[in-house]
Amino acid sequence: MLGPAVAVLAAAASVRAASCPDYSSFSMSPQGNASLGPLGLPFMRPAEECRTFKSPAVEQVIADMKAKLKNPDLARLFENTFPNTLDTTVKYFNKEQNLAFIITGDITAQWLRDTANQFAHYQALLPKDPELKALVKAVINNEARYIKQYPYCGAFQPPPESGLSPTHNDWNDGVTINPPINTNIVFECKYELDSLCGFLKLSRAYFQNTNDSSFINDDWNAAVKQIFKVIEEQSQPTFDEDFNLLSYYSWSGGNGALSPMVNNHGNNEPNAYTGMVKTHHRPSDDLATFAFLTPANAMLSVELKHLADVFNKAKVQEDVADNARALSKRISDAVWKHTVVDNIFAYETNGFGGRYVMDDANVPSLLSLPYLGFLDKKHPAYVATRKLLLSRGNPYYSRGKQFFGVGGPHVDAWDPWPMSLISSIYGTDNDKEITDMLETILNNTAGLGLIHESVNIYNNHQYTRSWFAWANSYFAEMVLDLAERKPHLILKDSKPYRLQD
Ligand SMILES: *[C@@H]1O[C@H](CO)[C@@H](O)[C@H](O)[C@H]1NC(C)=O
Ligand SMILES: *[C@@H]1O[C@H](CO)[C@@H](O)[C@H](O)[C@H]1NC(C)=O
Ligand SMILES: *[C@@H]1O[C@H](CO)[C@@H](O)[C@H](O)[C@H]1NC(C)=O
Repeated sequence: MLGPAVAVLAAAASVRAASCPDYSSFSMSPQGNASLGPLGLPFMRPAEECRTFKSPAVEQVIADMKAKLKNPDLARLFENTFPNTLDTTVKYFNKEQNLAFIITGDITAQWLRDTANQFAHYQALLPKDPELKALVKAVINNEARYIKQYPYCGAFQPPPESGLSPTHNDWNDGVTINPPINTNIVFECKYELDSLCGFLKLSRAYFQNTNDSSFINDDWNAAVKQIFKVIEEQSQPTFDEDFNLLSYYSWSGGNGALSPMVNNHGNNEPNAYTGMVKTHHRPSDDLATFAFLTPANAMLSVELKHLADVFNKAKVQEDVADNARALSKRISDAVWKHTVVDNIFAYETNGFGGRYVMDDANVPSLLSLPYLGFLDKKHPAYVATRKLLLSRGNPYYSRGKQFFGVGGPHVDAWDPWPMSLISSIYGTDNDKEITDMLETILNNTAGLGLIHESVNIYNNHQYTRSWFAWANSYFAEMVLDLAERKPHLILKDSKPYRLQD
């Protein structure tokens, strides 16, 4: 039976749910009053009583940045985007259970990749806000439980403790997956190497900013063990020496399912051994053309090194740390050896000489290699690849009168993503390029003051996903990076602003 205090809480929660608008529709039309710049961007935060998590440290950053930013439209876009994950996506949080369920925005599921990015720009605030710190730790713990059971899957249902019902994913109907899944736990089981990297990034960023190793519990250790198992399985060629098929994961739609049939009985295109690790789908959740996705391997190489540092600093599992360092080097060597020709990185390769030169907007992408920490933005191979990717040499680059950038087959080649411009800003020190890309993002929110998934080059009021928390977080993270790295471009006083100070 519920005690009286619990009953009151439950009643308060249902009142909130009843009077708070659904943010999917809320974010489709201008809400609060307009900013004072030429764009007049609306205030788009939900009413205070409808916000899903409140952080004094986050509010302080918003107040600081509003006072400092030169451009009032940029200040408004920052004010809307920086808190978006906390304002709208914390569907469940229980500190005692150490569990939190974070949705992506318009889809009620927790993606391993999205959460790592949704929280990336809050990590430096954790020492200042114990509740926020507890929230991030709870996100890590929830994901450790998922990965322990389903290391090949990337998107999940609410934890049973939350009392929230699982939602049905139509795209999963009729899909044959091996190993099989339980759809009460898994929302979608596309194997995307970078999902596992996202979990590692979320964990190590928490540690780097707090020195708190208490997230390392039995579930977390089991999850990491599973990640090493996946790395081992997905490093194998399609056939062994006797042409036995080495298949540890397969996925195929077809037969009337919304999802497409995949060649080779769901195993996709064959691959040779390279030292890199395969993926099945891309960070966009689209099927990969070739198995070795360069940016995901670059990210894995970086995250394995960080993982080793965490183990060494926390003085646990030093043997695993050595293994992680060795794997990191093997993967990075293979990226340089197998994907780069004449200073140009291929997006995907198959180990037989097959290369696909392109980029896809989702991070990890080739444009985001410096953001990921894989190389310096001045590295000649990055400079040459970036130039090619922001030109007609990249099949998924397009440019209209108002908007340009890199898209992907997830939407189509003429609907580039603001996210690709954010990655490009991280990839240059050129003030003019930065300003041009920043203005391009700012001028193309369809007057809604939020970052969308894609924007149409023929009609910049046509966009996808009104509520996409990761894109909002990534934008705010980039603005904070500029506030520290290039303050003269955006801040009134031209002095570096850092969250840690
Ligand atoms: C509109 O702007 C005023 C003054 O800038 C502010 O006090 C008020 O809260 C704003 N209202 C909304 C709904 O954003
Ligand atoms: C974490 O520990 C390092 C020393 O190992 C120290 O320099 C740093 O300030 C600590 N950070 C926090 C947030 O306590
Ligand atoms: C963005 O819009 C502003 C104001 O309308 C305009 O002055 C500027 O040239 C635009 N920038 C770009 C890169 O389109």
